[in-house]
Amino acid sequence: MPLNGFGVWKAESHKTKQAVLQALKVGYRHIDCAAVYMNETDVGDAFAEWIKHDAAKREQLFITSKVWNTCHARGDVVAACRQTLKDLQIEQLDLYLVHHPFAWTFQGLPITEDTWIGRNEKGEIAYPAGITLEETWRGMEECVKLGLTKDIGVSNYPVALLMDLKQYARILPAVNQCEAHVYFSRKELRSVCESIGMHFTMYSILGSGKQGPLQDDVVNKMAGEKGISAAQILIAWGLHTGSSVLAKSVNPERIQQNFAATEVKLTAKDVEKLDALGREMRTCNMVDYWGFPSHA
Ligand code: A2P
Repeated sequence: MPLNGFGVWKAESHKTKQAVLQALKVGYRHIDCAAVYMNETDVGDAFAEWIKHDAAKREQLFITSKVWNTCHARGDVVAACRQTLKDLQIEQLDLYLVHHPFAWTFQGLPITEDTWIGRNEKGEIAYPAGITLEETWRGMEECVKLGLTKDIGVSNYPVALLMDLKQYARILPAVNQCEAHVYFSRKELRSVCESIGMHFTMYSILGSGKQGPLQDDVVNKMAGEKGISAAQILIAWGLHTGSSVLAKSVNPERIQQNFAATEVKLTAKDVEKLDALGREMRTCNMVDYWGFPSHA
């Protein structure tokens, strides 16, 4: 997996195709998608244009997607994966992740504004009875057996669920993708992932567009001294941990700049200063997204 990855969460549908093409043009080869981002058909249009009839170009890409909460039943996982492949206009994913460790009632496919969440008459999220994460993992394993994806993994899984997953997995999870940045470094979670042989991917490495790491004085002073941007410092910090990182942008110059962070070298002193910024600050609070503290 190329460690410096490009993310499309919150990329508006009409800007996504050009953003992905720009990312590919400047050198990104790891593209992170998800059905619930509701822009997989736009990403797919970019892939189709980039790959055209040159299969070698597909082989150079590392493409991730994620099964949404409403598709956790075993058969729905496979159906959701097939929908994603159709939307992305590819034959096989490199990595398919369980997006969140929560099963919600199936609302139909594809995932749209009308199908991404179901609520009961009280306005609470509709959870189905009887769908466990083990059942969901069996669906993920079936995706591998059917050749729909090379590898499978999880996202937003805390330590306890990872340890449980290790007990029932017949195909081991390759990756745990979670929010991580200098304000929320996930040191313990990362070290558990490493000890059980899972790669760690950091999303929201720039703070997800919220007030936070990008505005930090220490980060900006360091960036100024090196003549680079704050975003490049944040990405370089993530990469130095050995994790892969995902930065989203729909701005062509920023996309180029973020990819160029692959070459930024931080000194031990820089890392020490950046590590000291940790403050357990999440920028992705699920209460903001669906009113339930599923990250807690
Ligand atoms: P935009 O898409 O307009 O460039 P994250 O990857 O943590 O989710 O952060 C994405 C947010 O950071 C978006 O709001 C994105 O805006 C912004 N962003 C991405 N790259 C840069 C950059 N190099 N400098 C400043 N802001 C950036």
